Amino acid sequence: MTNSPETVGPLLASLTTLRLGGPARAIVRCTETDALVATVLDLDSRGESVLIVGGGSNLVIGDDGFDGTAVVVASTGIEYAEEDGRPYVIAEAGNDWDALVADTVAAGFGGLECLSGIPGAAGTTPVQNVGAYGVEVADILREVRLLSRATGQTRWVGPDALDLAYRTSSLKGRDAEVVLAVSFWLNPDGVSAPIAYRELATALGVEPGGTAEAARVRERVLELRRGKGMVLDDADHDTWSAGSFFTNPIVPESQVDDILARITERVGPDVAVPRYPADAGVKLSAGWLIERAGFTRGFPGDDAAARLSTKHTLALTNRGSATTADLLALAGRVRDGVRDAFGVDLHPEPVLVNCQLPR
Ligand code: EPU
Repeated sequence: MTNSPETVGPLLASLTTLRLGGPARAIVRCTETDALVATVLDLDSRGESVLIVGGGSNLVIGDDGFDGTAVVVASTGIEYAEEDGRPYVIAEAGNDWDALVADTVAAGFGGLECLSGIPGAAGTTPVQNVGAYGVEVADILREVRLLSRATGQTRWVGPDALDLAYRTSSLKGRDAEVVLAVSFWLNPDGVSAPIAYRELATALGVEPGGTAEAARVRERVLELRRGKGMVLDDADHDTWSAGSFFTNPIVPESQVDDILARITERVGPDVAVPRYPADAGVKLSAGWLIERAGFTRGFPGDDAAARLSTKHTLALTNRGSATTADLLALAGRVRDGVRDAFGVDLHPEPVLVNCQLPR
């Protein structure tokens, strides 16, 4: 479909969980992997800009939209197999992630249940190394099938080739390759992954590090996520978000003492600061810092079109009439407020397309 420059194309807002984003020249949905490959290579050969969209749950698209074609990955095959007696699943990239988790649990396998209820497409999970409740994609990923847009070739690569780290990988922010399918190791007999996250272990009544029945873990995770507005629900504006808007900041070792002193000065010596060991320093909790910097849940109030979720300070939400500019202005305010209060820089977690935070 080609439009003259005056014509407003289909709105990308319909493809994102934030329901934000201006027009694209065209939107093409590919329900088969072969069609996805052919479509992307054809658009590339014609010099058309391409925006690959999965579940739209980690995308912030500017109000001016995207001057090109959005290709929606909607391929949904799922297969189970075994290697050396170890089960695994192969899922085409367009499967809804949570539907895939549910399928594995219903088929009697464990391993993915801690990642229940995460919005988005299966193919995008390795891109930002999705994680929740003590499990991240890097722990369970077997292989990813990639299309190289430069050569037109497809290949399977293992997790070692992807530089998976906290909420990032070598695929994030790069358009050179398209994920066509993903494969995850599974546990037989419906045994969950080790339950490392304290809040979840408590909810399940197991010791941290123990396991439980995958189906039961999935139910508890869904309950916890619902309580935080982190399970999609059309009727609940708290879920019109891109999940966590900022990553949890990792403070380098050299700055930890200064920053903790600044936090303690503000919140008082009796308040425990949530902190977790990280590779080259200490990981702090962005949601906690935002709240203690004065941005409480629901900030800045009922009338605002873009506000913090009333259930979790780390989710920035569209109350129905927001623009991307509104959302980014709020993000800028929160980022600046946390920096002023504690000297900690927050970085956006979603992919920003044709837009940016105010400087
Ligand atoms: N907190 C507040 N106020 C709030 C919410 C949280 O002060 O409104 C504080 C609490 O002290 C809480 C702490 O923040 O104990 C951590 O909150 P939570 O357990 O919800 O985890 P998170 O660090 O905010 C991360 C992931 C989520 C994932 C959860 C559960 C990131 C950026 N976010 O959130 O992932 O679901 O852990 O494992 O790592 C996402 O990436 O989009 C996402 C939702």
